[in-house]
Amino acid sequence: MELQVLQGDLRSFEADAVVVNLFQGVSRPGGATGAVDESLGGAVAAVIAAGDLTGKLGDTVTLYTNGRMVAPRVIVVGLGPAERFGAEEARRAAGAAAAAARKLGVERLATIAHGAGLGGLAPRSAAQATVEGTLLALYQFRAYKSAKRDGDQAERRVVRSLTVLGTDAARLEELRAGAAVGESLARAVQLGRDLANHPGNVATPAFLAERAAEIADRHGMRLEVWDRARIEAEGMGALAAVARGSHQEPRFIVLEHAPPAAADHKPYVLVGKGLTFDSGGISLKPGKGMGAMKFDMCGAAAVLGALEAVGHLGLPVRVMGIVAAAENMPGGNAAKPGDIVTALNGTTIEILNTDAEGRLVLADALAYARRLDPAAVVDLATLTGAVVVALGKHAAGLFANDDDLAAALIAAGEKSGERVWRMPLWPAYGKMIESDVADIKNVNEGEGGAGAVFGGKFLERFVDYPWAHVDIAGVAWSVPDVAYIGKGASGYGVRLVLEWLQGLVEQ
Ligand code: BES
Ligand code: MN
Ligand code: ZN
Repeated sequence: MELQVLQGDLRSFEADAVVVNLFQGVSRPGGATGAVDESLGGAVAAVIAAGDLTGKLGDTVTLYTNGRMVAPRVIVVGLGPAERFGAEEARRAAGAAAAAARKLGVERLATIAHGAGLGGLAPRSAAQATVEGTLLALYQFRAYKSAKRDGDQAERRVVRSLTVLGTDAARLEELRAGAAVGESLARAVQLGRDLANHPGNVATPAFLAERAAEIADRHGMRLEVWDRARIEAEGMGALAAVARGSHQEPRFIVLEHAPPAAADHKPYVLVGKGLTFDSGGISLKPGKGMGAMKFDMCGAAAVLGALEAVGHLGLPVRVMGIVAAAENMPGGNAAKPGDIVTALNGTTIEILNTDAEGRLVLADALAYARRLDPAAVVDLATLTGAVVVALGKHAAGLFANDDDLAAALIAAGEKSGERVWRMPLWPAYGKMIESDVADIKNVNEGEGGAGAVFGGKFLERFVDYPWAHVDIAGVAWSVPDVAYIGKGASGYGVRLVLEWLQGLVEQ
């Protein structure tokens, strides 16, 4: 897909479709949409008057220009009410317009930057959101689709180019800068989605390590990868226990982006849960829906996607990415309920349920992060079914031991559209994790509720630095009703984390 930002009039621009927009409740469009309406003899106003176009967010109408513009089609997309408009609405509108364009077989798509005019967004944010929404909506995972017949692949009509058009020469550089960031982020999200969408028999812990090596090579990052023997020798008894039932070796992966200007700063550390498949282990999950547990590495995918974006954008911040990757399987050598293991920091853990494995692999990763003397650590994990019950598909659960870090992530969530909702870590919940025989236990066996908080309290035992835990079990895949998120993995977390890190640069 080719992306360009040009100065020009969308009425004379050569494309298969051009996209303009409309706020809800507007009967006589202004700006670019007004110009199109005028060229088309009032066709846009007529569709509005007929009640077929209300400007509801994400609704689209396609008009045919019949020679009155160079492009044969205009797609008008709704932006919703002006008073509720922001970057996320621009992103969603762009995604809806792109989905409509794809259905029409459009190959060359042109668009205005949604919200840069009457919407009141800075041109840079408008261009970024428009490009993100468009590219993310056009993402498809076709790695395992065989061409039905010869030539099929060549005949598939896909959007091949996107042009963002601006009329004002003075704003072009801002539009370009925003579009470039949007493209970087969308590509990084796509990388994360790809990793997650690959099935468990392909995306193994070793596979994740290979993809991490490619990221390191591309951007000159330091990479360290530990195999099973090293993980055991280093004393990561919790991660090792999770991996013990599988023939797939675990990997402990550390990536470091250390630009010269920040090389001696404390690092911001991202930690991802990388369960390339979670069968539950000896505490086996029910069969129905178990296939979705190939997505149990979405935290890891977000971390790798984020490092890709950090590298590509050349962020002037020291950032490290840690992935604890393993496959959770039953087997003759698997960890059993009742087993006690020792984590890297010496904490002993009674494993009462082998399906509560995410907190085990993260325990060792968070204990390791302490050695890095971090400025802050954010972990992303598909940790609990309970957070899906609590928050569903519209927000991830946020747990933090630091109010400033929590506030920064909440703000980044609002901006990126990847929202987080803070959950408590009050001391009163601490009793839940106490074990009769070890320092702590990994589950409460159904008593006391608060399953998502249990995960947070458990992880808290392994940190002594500013830390946040983002439970993404609800938002990492199968997110409905958002045009820029299709089937499969959402890539959640990449843009959230980048928004946060970019905020640190601006400080
Ligand atoms: N990977 C799952 C959490 C999960 C469940 C994510 C459903 C997305 C959808 C995790 O390893 C797990 O199995 N958690 C258990 C914990 C329980 C045994 C305390 C859960 O949530 O049921
Ligand atoms: Mn599990
Ligand atoms: Zn899991």
